[in-house]
Amino acid sequence: YLIDKLSIKNDLSQEELEVLLTNLTEEDRDYLIDKAYEVRKQYYGNTVFFRGLIEISNICKCDCFYCGIRASNKKASRYRLSKEEILECCYRGYSLGYRTFVFQGGEDSYFSDELLESIIKTLKGKYSDIAITLSLGERGEESFKRLYEAGADRYLLRHETVNEKLYKELHPNMSLDNRKKCLEYLKEIGYQVGSGFLIGLPGLKLTDYAKDLIFLKKLKPHMVGIGPFIPHEDTPLKNENGGTAYDTITLLAIIRLLLPDVLLPATTALGTIDPKGREKGFKAGANVIMPNLSPMECRKKYALYNGKVFLGKESAEEKLKIENSILEAGFQPVLTRGDNVRWKRK
Ligand code: 5AD
Repeated sequence: YLIDKLSIKNDLSQEELEVLLTNLTEEDRDYLIDKAYEVRKQYYGNTVFFRGLIEISNICKCDCFYCGIRASNKKASRYRLSKEEILECCYRGYSLGYRTFVFQGGEDSYFSDELLESIIKTLKGKYSDIAITLSLGERGEESFKRLYEAGADRYLLRHETVNEKLYKELHPNMSLDNRKKCLEYLKEIGYQVGSGFLIGLPGLKLTDYAKDLIFLKKLKPHMVGIGPFIPHEDTPLKNENGGTAYDTITLLAIIRLLLPDVLLPATTALGTIDPKGREKGFKAGANVIMPNLSPMECRKKYALYNGKVFLGKESAEEKLKIENSILEAGFQPVLTRGDNVRWKRK
């Protein structure tokens, strides 16, 4: 009954979400996934959008307990790409057919507004049919504004967890309040905004995600990125259990029903813990894939968690292979910029 209500109204209260998550039988879950699949078809057909992911720096001033590139991990071998290297990745990606480029990196002050503006303007000057997504952590309102005006279209900033106490424990010198403020700025400025959370952080139960879901429902992001927490050996959480593909897929389906038009990637982390994870994700409502377009020698170093896959079907160069496995799963690969249907540049 709650699943029907959710798929008709695209809404449930926190209490209802908790009940749904607590009592979800195997059968209910199959039904939930079918409903999510229907909704994704209504809004986006069978399409899966491609994004080329460029990991521009693994230098980070933050010290998030779960993350392999946290500032106090002295074992991480650090790198940052130059402007020329980033442009090269995009040129290579463009000729492979990619039309969205995602710049992701640690909070590295080397990437000033000036430098990012010049990279964005160069690309937008050269190509009229691309979208640029930034995923560079928290910045000031002015900075977000300048980068949008330079031509950035989208910004990804997961809220990670809406559990105030856990957020404080895992993110030294950061605050959930500032995270939320950044997300509000980004929306106000006009970006397509992505947020999301980690699944299986130590101490969280499935029902705890009801609060994350309500947070997302209020924020109305254009994109949502969720993935399992995977322990990294050189972090304080190295001995904890990670999140499961099972829970991740359940939550993908609920998010598709709560936010029917959202762009929802089947993430690398999901593909890492389950080789079939991405296909299962598409069947549960996911509609985006972000193959890795970073220079090969950097991919190993951008290790947020253990065992990150970056070859074969995770690699942007293997576009044909990725397209084939998407076709085989019954979906249609799409290489246009693939904006959220509700978004227009201000
Ligand atoms: N396992 C899974 N995801 C992680 N991230 C960071 N560390 C890990 C980890 N150990 C995610 C965060 C961040 C995104 C870029 O990567 O959610 O927002």
